[in-house]
Amino acid sequence: MKLKEKILMDKHKIKTLLKKWLPKDRFEHSIRVEKTAVKLAKIHKIDEEDASIAAILHDCARYNDINLIQEAEKLGLPIKPIEKVQPKLLHPRLGAIIAQRKFGIKNKNILAAIKKHTVGSIKMTPLEKIVYLADHTEPARDYKGVTKVRKLSFIDLNAAIVECASSMLQDLIQRKLPISEETLKTRNYYLTKDG
Ligand SMILES: [Fe+2]
Ligand SMILES: [Fe+2]
Repeated sequence: MKLKEKILMDKHKIKTLLKKWLPKDRFEHSIRVEKTAVKLAKIHKIDEEDASIAAILHDCARYNDINLIQEAEKLGLPIKPIEKVQPKLLHPRLGAIIAQRKFGIKNKNILAAIKKHTVGSIKMTPLEKIVYLADHTEPARDYKGVTKVRKLSFIDLNAAIVECASSMLQDLIQRKLPISEETLKTRNYYLTKDG
């Protein structure tokens, strides 16, 4: 079997399994994120297959009724105080583990992109940047500032990340929710560096 055929078959299997695994709306969001990530990968000349697989699986830990704290404890993951208040913040880290164990993903770059997709990180790879941005700009996203983030994501990934993290911070402040240190670090890093 040729490599391209094998990749397509593997992806088909992943999608079939994921469709059963995730709630319908979460699966549909994942497909939209995949399309957005592939579009960004084409524009920025990043491996489209890696982008596609990382994006499809980015929310694989947001399945029905998951108790994220319990799952994290079972796996022996350290839980930060903010994650106790907002367990949702655990899903990227759990997602990377589930992608590896349940979906058989071995590629470390893909797993890292899943792990960083929510709050970002300093020194992200191009793949990590586009999965983060695709998640925050897929067509159904409609937070204040999304149009600007979306436009910037086509031309300047770092500027789009600054804009995206800034919007997230404003939203969290407005809703009186705790702010993850990582969101602040991500914004500050890309605001002051080219990297
Ligand atoms: Fe997510
Ligand atoms: Fe998502």
